[in-house]
Amino acid sequence: MCQPSRRMLVTSALPYANGPIHLGHMVEYIQTDIWVRFQKLMGNDCTYVCADDAHGTPIMLRAQNEGITPETLIGRIWQEHRRDFAGFDIGFDHYHSTHSDENKTLAQGIYIKLREAGLISEKDIEQAYDPVKGMFLPDRFVKGECPKCGAHDQYGDSCESCGATYSPLEMKNPVSTITGATPVAKTSRHYFFELPKLQAWLSDWIRTEGRLPSQLVNKLDEWFKEDLQAWDISRDAPYFGFEIPDTVDKFFYVWLDAPIGYIGSFKAYCDKTGVNFDDYWKADSDVELYHFIGKDIVYFHTLFWPSMLHAAGYRTPTAVFAHGFLTVNGQKMSKSRGTFITAEAYLNHLPAQALRYYFAAKLSNRVEDIDLSMEDFVQRVNSDLVGKLVNIASRCSGFIQKFFDGKLATLNADHMAILAPYQQSSESIARLYEQREFGHAMREIMALADQANAWIAEVAPWQLAKDEQKREALHQSASLAINLFRVLMVYLNPVLPDMANQARAFLQESDWNWQSAQTALENHRIAPYSALFTRLEMKQVEAMMTENAQAVAAQPQRKTETKSVTSEASKVTEATQTDFVPEAISEEIVIEDFMKIDLRVALIVKAEAVPEADKLVKLTLDIGVGTRQVFAGIKSAYSPEQLEGRLTVMVANLKPRKMRFGMSEGMVLAGSGDGGLYLLTPDSGAQPGMRVK
Ligand code: MSP
Ligand code: ZN
Repeated sequence: MCQPSRRMLVTSALPYANGPIHLGHMVEYIQTDIWVRFQKLMGNDCTYVCADDAHGTPIMLRAQNEGITPETLIGRIWQEHRRDFAGFDIGFDHYHSTHSDENKTLAQGIYIKLREAGLISEKDIEQAYDPVKGMFLPDRFVKGECPKCGAHDQYGDSCESCGATYSPLEMKNPVSTITGATPVAKTSRHYFFELPKLQAWLSDWIRTEGRLPSQLVNKLDEWFKEDLQAWDISRDAPYFGFEIPDTVDKFFYVWLDAPIGYIGSFKAYCDKTGVNFDDYWKADSDVELYHFIGKDIVYFHTLFWPSMLHAAGYRTPTAVFAHGFLTVNGQKMSKSRGTFITAEAYLNHLPAQALRYYFAAKLSNRVEDIDLSMEDFVQRVNSDLVGKLVNIASRCSGFIQKFFDGKLATLNADHMAILAPYQQSSESIARLYEQREFGHAMREIMALADQANAWIAEVAPWQLAKDEQKREALHQSASLAINLFRVLMVYLNPVLPDMANQARAFLQESDWNWQSAQTALENHRIAPYSALFTRLEMKQVEAMMTENAQAVAAQPQRKTETKSVTSEASKVTEATQTDFVPEAISEEIVIEDFMKIDLRVALIVKAEAVPEADKLVKLTLDIGVGTRQVFAGIKSAYSPEQLEGRLTVMVANLKPRKMRFGMSEGMVLAGSGDGGLYLLTPDSGAQPGMRVK
């Protein structure tokens, strides 16, 4: 434990400045904050920076809709984000914006370095253009019919129904979601970062031990197999972003200057504090650099970002840590289901510490989704924080005040021996924090709390208190209990900073670090106990959900943020952020047309994830006359476990289609659109194989 202090710079991904912080985001900021607080308690020189990601088309359009400048919009959102992060005790050392002077200078400087290194190319490309609005359309701002399967109402980059990816210009009946106009093809000059030229270097870089979680290395290997492509880093005016040097009306694509925002934020921090910038960012820096990100933005952080840094003469990240996504009550967060819970709504009804603890208890260093199930949340937090932790202090502190003038005893050898194993857990718990195995760390701490409670129940200080002859035993046992509580609270300090502060005030101590667990508090006056945490009630959760649903309904309609990259594998459907608008009824057909479609009740006997495809689930369907294999684009709304054993309806006579992963022998039916995806299910009693007509 006595290593020299490490210098570290840590970041969380920069949230978009076009919407509120929600509980999905909070997984990441809480995870990072716990790790950073742990490092600081260990005595490491750890700096945590972040910023709002302020550029791009959605932000520009939202500002236009609200009749304000983008600067005004991002200024307002920046305040809201800061407020929400503060509410959750996220302890940034600096919080900046990508729309800053520092970032502009850095982004343009890096671009020029890349150009000098021969890594910028130019090419004319044809893109969808909205002739009414007078602007090029990002893929997600075009909707139409899938060129492969004909599904209606698909976005311009990929089909949610068959999983195909394409360009908006290939779609049938495309419309601009901004004006409803039919997009036209228009050519303009684009600037590219020549990623393929760095392929060999990058291939070594990602394989360096400890740099990326192994799950990610496997995924990246697939991208490498398909060969890297040059990355389009320019966008045409009108665009809210930074101008590309030596061009006219060309702007950096938001994803170029977004990660540079990490450096920009740190630069502003250096200017504020006098910390040496170059020490951290020069090519041979010995400072550790860590990025915490979600699984949806791995591509940007493990391919483009290290390559840009390397080619421009900066240091590269020590490691990139990716986490999974938050689901609420087992489902992807969605506005229409009311599970798109904002940080603000949460904080209006529930304590930040509860969510911090719950996420900690669920987090590991693997890229796995985590579920916030409301009943489990209330039950878990009450049982652990109230039932196990706070209980220790609340049961024993009264005796100290009542009989011993608020003063703890000097512990005798027997009691010191009981305390010792709690102190010895320090190393293993520290190791778990360091490895981001927070769930495991919480289980160890709660196991110690269980032991402490069992010991207290056995000694029963409340019995000792009845007997005046046993004052010394009472003093000893209550003092030991307070010390056990104190050690556990030191261990929980990274997760529960607010409770730890209150506990320190109760214990009348000025400061804690990780080593504080190794001392005992003896012959020391403590303050009267006041509640450190109050039980959660389900009705608080209900009130939050109600308020949240109302607030979401009242929000202006907003377009989904674009995360378009060239590789199919990295395209991710996000929680839809638009309100549902039903599409127009299709062209008339006659009954004979309908009868050609053989719809059957199908039992999902097996559902498996398709690791190579973010959207697909492989279903084995029993339709009475045999089984069929279907690849369904429903992973955004259902996990495989939720599907097995369910009845649904399938098109049984669709010509089988060969997909990259195998044959697809039909389709399952689901309601889909901007409001989400809902698999059809017959009423109970229906038998597999029944014809649906
Ligand atoms: N602006 C980009 C990041 C640029 S970093 C140079 C972005 N912003 S975001 O607001 O969409 O997401 C910010 C972070 O929150 C990302 O790491 C993202 O993965 C994470 N999350 C957003 N929704 C989430 C869940 N539902 N669950 C867990 N994390 C989620 O991406
Ligand atoms: Zn399709």
